[in-house]
Amino acid sequence: MSGGRALIAASILDADLSNLANAVRRLGTAGADRIHLDVMDGHFVPNLTFGAKTIKHLRKRTDLPLDAHLMISEPGRYLDEYLDAGCDSITFHVEVEEEIAPILERIRAAGRAAGLSLRPTTPLAALEPYRQLLDIVMVMAVEPGFGGQTFMHDVARQKLLPARDLLSHKVYGGEIHVDGGVNRETAEFVGALGVDVLVVGSALFTKGRDLGREIRLIRALADEGYQYALNGGEPPIPRDRMVTFTSLPKHLARALMEEIEAGGIPVVMLRGDGAMNPDGVRDYDLLVPATVEAVVIERHRHTRQGYLRAAETWRETFVRERGVIAPPSHP
Ligand code: DX5
Ligand code: ZN
Repeated sequence: MSGGRALIAASILDADLSNLANAVRRLGTAGADRIHLDVMDGHFVPNLTFGAKTIKHLRKRTDLPLDAHLMISEPGRYLDEYLDAGCDSITFHVEVEEEIAPILERIRAAGRAAGLSLRPTTPLAALEPYRQLLDIVMVMAVEPGFGGQTFMHDVARQKLLPARDLLSHKVYGGEIHVDGGVNRETAEFVGALGVDVLVVGSALFTKGRDLGREIRLIRALADEGYQYALNGGEPPIPRDRMVTFTSLPKHLARALMEEIEAGGIPVVMLRGDGAMNPDGVRDYDLLVPATVEAVVIERHRHTRQGYLRAAETWRETFVRERGVIAPPSHP
């Protein structure tokens, strides 16, 4: 985990294609957050790269999440192969002629994140009919097909902030990706437009550059852009930071955890620093991602009070009926 807000998905399109195992290994060491896999069929785009079989082999070579970006004419026809290859997310193009919704549904049914990408000339409105099925919106800032092209500022400016509205149904886990032309020069600009995932290809594989330094630099610039443009000068909250929402006896903590998770927000239940109970077991802490702390408080403030009262009653009843059990002494 990077610790920053923005994530870097490294595209291996411009790596040495005869040695991809080495490329993903180096990216892992260098601190990339994801691997972005550009699949091209020579038909949807005038270029040919690799397919599901290559991805299946790469899956064994890295623990990083794999984002597939399918620039192919018939994603539905070949989808099962990409699911089987172990992709964590699959994004395809809204311009394809197949029916879109069933493909998104199949990706989600397989437990992967589903995304739609769009060419620079396709309006964002094209995604509107599918918004409820989307986990990822991938905005292309170059014409798909090749790495190393020039970033289109106007396209990014027009689409990136409004793209967020398309994911308003996802409080947690929805992602805007920007793909094409992202480098040191453009990272701050896209960060300021609230992008979650920056796809970076040729900037990482330019001869003479240090991979790790480049990744850290681009991520930091994106976070800085976000901080000044969207977060009123407050540093962006790192993705992996968790905060304690409340502490409760185990059975009550579990029940509240399930209520929160039902709303699409992950909870970590930890036997942490909670207060000691009369049964000799500490309260469990419920941790939620700091990025959605405000949402959790807004939604569950009242239920939390109810649970805390239930905990009081449970403690009093326990003491009345059985007294206080001495906590186990630890060396
Ligand atoms: C273009 C691909 C991009 C590309 C990014 O069709 O979808 O992912 O590889 O490469 P750069 O960062 O060089 O634009
Ligand atoms: Zn791509």
